[in-house]
Amino acid sequence: NISKIMSNIIKISPSILSADFSKLGTEVISLEKAGADYIHIDVMDGHFVPNLTIGPEVIKKLRPITSKVFDVHLMIKPVDNFIKDFADAGADIITFHPEATPDILKTIKLIKKENKKVGVSLKPKSDVKLIENILSEIDLVLIMSVEPGFGGQKFMPEVLDKIKILKKLIAEKNLNVDIEIDGGINFENCSEAKKAGANILVSGSTVFKENKGDLKKNIEILRNN
Ligand code: DX5
Ligand code: ZN
Repeated sequence: NISKIMSNIIKISPSILSADFSKLGTEVISLEKAGADYIHIDVMDGHFVPNLTIGPEVIKKLRPITSKVFDVHLMIKPVDNFIKDFADAGADIITFHPEATPDILKTIKLIKKENKKVGVSLKPKSDVKLIENILSEIDLVLIMSVEPGFGGQKFMPEVLDKIKILKKLIAEKNLNVDIEIDGGINFENCSEAKKAGANILVSGSTVFKENKGDLKKNIEILRNN
């Protein structure tokens, strides 16, 4: 049936920002066993966003323990000088924010040169216009449904309109671009996000904290709700 087909095309990308950093490797293996499609890795620089997380060295150490797609979300500015480091460390998708570069196309080129998938992310107040003209050059748009910087924030439903606009644009242009949503995703709003057109859901708190941390159950609910 249709809901089964729908849930098959939905990918869940748990954010390790909510994992126990003292045992990150074990946490990533647990996510893989629990059925995660991607591993979402939030990179923050204390400048583009008011928080600090992890860098390429940590990703490099995680790389040998799983073959899952590393979905790397760069919240760093400037960004160009770090693309190669993240590619070498083992990122599969490299997502950046347009505000973090003086030349979006140049940053896209740098990522493509490393044979990595290109993502561009829009903060809640960033307009679709910022990326309208470069949609044909990228693989993924990451729509932020919280202000980037911290896990555990409240979902901003107003960004769903942007997803609808994007979905329409992508269809009109006959492109193959994924729409990923990130921030405050829970068991209630995940269905609205999918209905709007998102096909990849990021989740930190919900995956790691609901149902006493039952990763498998939480991933399944996000996928099927
Ligand atoms: C926020 C990060 C998100 C965050 C999601 O800047 O980009 O990936 O970890 O966490 P939750 O699901 O808790 O909002
Ligand atoms: Zn993220």
